[in-house]
Amino acid sequence: MIISIPKENSLGETRTAASPETVKKYADMGMTVRIESGAGEASGFSDRDFTEAGAEIVSDTAAVYQGADIILKVRAPEKSEDHFLQKGQVLIAHCQAKAAPERIREMSKRGITCFALDLMPRISRAQNMDILSSQSSLSGYAAVLEAVNRLNKAVPLMMTAAGTIPPARFLVLGAGVAGLQAIATAKRLGAQVYASDVRPQVKEQVESLGGKFLEVGEDESFETDGGYAKETSASYQKKQAELIADRLAQTDILITTALIPGKKAPRLVNKKMLKNMPAGGIVIDMAAESGGNVEGTKDKEIVQFEGITLIGDSMPATKIPASASASFAKNIYNFLFAMYHAESKKIVFDFDDELVKGVCVIKEGDVL
Ligand code: NAI
Repeated sequence: MIISIPKENSLGETRTAASPETVKKYADMGMTVRIESGAGEASGFSDRDFTEAGAEIVSDTAAVYQGADIILKVRAPEKSEDHFLQKGQVLIAHCQAKAAPERIREMSKRGITCFALDLMPRISRAQNMDILSSQSSLSGYAAVLEAVNRLNKAVPLMMTAAGTIPPARFLVLGAGVAGLQAIATAKRLGAQVYASDVRPQVKEQVESLGGKFLEVGEDESFETDGGYAKETSASYQKKQAELIADRLAQTDILITTALIPGKKAPRLVNKKMLKNMPAGGIVIDMAAESGGNVEGTKDKEIVQFEGITLIGDSMPATKIPASASASFAKNIYNFLFAMYHAESKKIVFDFDDELVKGVCVIKEGDVL
């Protein structure tokens, strides 16, 4: 079977869907691996690294797709790349299937089968295939470093002969996988960290990392049976907004990660609240691609607002592509290996398997 890895073309995308480690594993499984020249460059994987791992390097994009059984991408192809997809091929990528159903419909016209890794069921068997977790965790870490690099202050408390420098103050809104990693990273740097989330058990997780939890003080739970957040009530929103507005007056770095699966991101901070932030403040809105938690942020853009830097960055993991690509590639490998039949040396997708059912958004041209 032929597994092909085209170079990523989406704006700001630095990652790649295979690493030399996973290429070697595919080669050991008896797969032919084709990689577009330069696909791993930003991640520090050279064409030579891939060749040594057993891949063929192909210079022409059309030739990478040509004849492939399985195509691995980080991001679903751009519309302008659809013509490369051929009937019968299997595409595996982060498709943002819930947010961009129109793209799925467009790609289906090519007669392909498409597995959206962003829909991987969150069950224990699939934990090592979960791209949302691996990339969110790295993004939470990278967001803190990005913000700290732009901050005009030191982060830890410092006692010097010239006096005491107080620690920088963080506010993290949304303490799921990305938010908890952001809290842990900021704490490791010596920051004072506050956090807010709507799911009740998050309080204990935040506190175990040394963060302080902002208590909204409503009894109602805004958590689904599946463990995800749902939209909050008007009275909760009002109380939460007051707490956030107060806290912003003493916040140097605001990192927002709040998402509600399948819905627009909740708007947690408006411009009036932002004005409370001291000048020099840094905001990273990791929900920018889903509509934004903070008024005024734009995905992949940096905007100045009243002395505050607003950064829309839904995937800070792209700033550390070597780690992000290695994890992403391993997630895909784990999925494919689970579908591998050693005797026939073939990857066979069993559509009765809950993993395959969970991620399949197009089956032989039909949108599911
Ligand atoms: P997410 O990326 O969907 O959302 C991020 C965070 O925003 C969540 O913690 C959510 O509660 C919070 N949020 C939503 N609306 C908010 C609001 N109005 N105000 C403040 N915060 C708000 O969440 P993520 O990181 O994917 O985690 C969701 C759940 O999935 C967690 O319980 C996590 O432990 C679980 N999970 C399970 C995995 C598995 O079983 N394999 C793997 C990863 C996560």
